[in-house]
Amino acid sequence: MSLTFTFDPAVGPALRDGILDLWTDVTNAGGAVGFVAPVTRDEIRPELVKQLASLATGGARLLVGHDEDGRVAATAFLTFNTHRLRTHWVWLYTVMVHPRHQGKGYGRDLMAAVADAARSLDGIEAIRLGCRGGLGLERFYGSCGYKEVGRVPDAIRVAPGDDRDDITMLLPLL
Ligand SMILES: CC(C)(COP(=O)(O)OP(=O)(O)OC[C@H]1O[C@@H](n2cnc3c(N)ncnc32)[C@H](O)[C@@H]1OP(=O)(O)O)[C@@H](O)C(=O)NCCC(=O)NCCS
Repeated sequence: MSLTFTFDPAVGPALRDGILDLWTDVTNAGGAVGFVAPVTRDEIRPELVKQLASLATGGARLLVGHDEDGRVAATAFLTFNTHRLRTHWVWLYTVMVHPRHQGKGYGRDLMAAVADAARSLDGIEAIRLGCRGGLGLERFYGSCGYKEVGRVPDAIRVAPGDDRDDITMLLPLL
């Protein structure tokens, strides 16, 4: 069994609701995708609307993975830089695999599909992302070929008294 990945899927209500459910379930299972559990779909929706708007304006591209039942099971948003001196690499945001599917290798499949997608973009030479410390995520990205290139101590406050490092990971594509 594996996920079916689509780069630049058509965005309609089913996909939008599927991503919203995925993002909510991932966060409530302890995932580090911009929120801290517990969250509701209503809290996440405005952030998703922003990300979908940037797809519509060409500022970002979406990679989505569906499971064998046709449910949205994984996502990653590739976001372009607007600064003229940084247009040769992309940011990666909202990397997530549904909790029911974690630990089966789908995260690694997702990151391989992300690298393929980024290589298909004109002039893109690297993928950069930031991740929350304390969860072992740098080991996950490391197993996908990314290198830790920076770490800002205690930059992410997940709760009073619980600050986490902001870790920068990079995958050169050339
Ligand atoms: C991080 C995430 C995408 C990984 O996906 P996954 O399908 O569970 O990962 P895989 O099964 O492909 O695992 C690939 C490798 O990474 C390791 N790995 C996965 N998640 C890990 C974690 N949180 N910490 C350390 N290692 C991890 C696995 O052990 C495996 O290594 P191995 O082959 O040596 O056993 C997924 O767990 C997830 O969605 N987490 C919640 C959201 C999140 O925090 N996203 C990160 C945003 S920066």
